[in-house]
Amino acid sequence: MSFCIAVDGPAGAGKSTIAKLVAKKMNLIYVDTGAMYRAMAYYLISQNTDLANGQEISEKCQGADIRIVYENGEQVVILNGENVNPYLRTEEVGNAASVSSANGSVRAKLVELQQRMAEDTDLIMDGRDIGTCVLPKAQLKIYLTASSRVRALRRYHELVAKGQACNLEEIEADIIDRDYRDMNREISPLKQAADAVLLDTSDMTIEEVVGKIISLAEERK
Ligand code: DC
Repeated sequence: MSFCIAVDGPAGAGKSTIAKLVAKKMNLIYVDTGAMYRAMAYYLISQNTDLANGQEISEKCQGADIRIVYENGEQVVILNGENVNPYLRTEEVGNAASVSSANGSVRAKLVELQQRMAEDTDLIMDGRDIGTCVLPKAQLKIYLTASSRVRALRRYHELVAKGQACNLEEIEADIIDRDYRDMNREISPLKQAADAVLLDTSDMTIEEVVGKIISLAEERK
């Protein structure tokens, strides 16, 4: 059986930064499931889908063939034969993903792909429902969080470093909205699995969080 670490938590908690570092140090494959939901949202936008219409999302999502490949250790999402990584990290796609990921047909399709990946590969997978739904038997489950202010500040500094104009209050309001949608949807809402370890990273450095997860993982190997 493969060795799996499940990492869940709200937007901006640092899941991907932390999971990538743990993957490198422990020689695991890193699976970013948010990128799959983003690729699906990107496809739905490209098909002019009305995201308020669940029936339309259920029908149109069947036209998206999503695959994951690795190039130089980086996850690449292939949508209908095309590498869509360059288009996934915009606010528009992120917000659309938060809406379309509430749809049962979208989730069924992507969860199946995620479970297949974990069948025979040692990995660390991050998302919103990994410990609760995708990998209920993961050897280690982490629920990573931080206050909305700290998460907004991290995002703000990222955007400022890229030279993009932004407003901290707006970023925090967006994060609070996204949390609400992700935590209150009917299917697989974001919540801490009963057997997950809670890590609040508001006052922790990246190195501290990575070290903590590796020591927990070593205990369970
Ligand atoms: O982690 P992220 O910001 O890339 O995720 C984008 C959206 O996808 C997020 O708002 C909720 C959704 N998502 C999900 O529903 N389940 C997952 N396992 C991962 C992401």
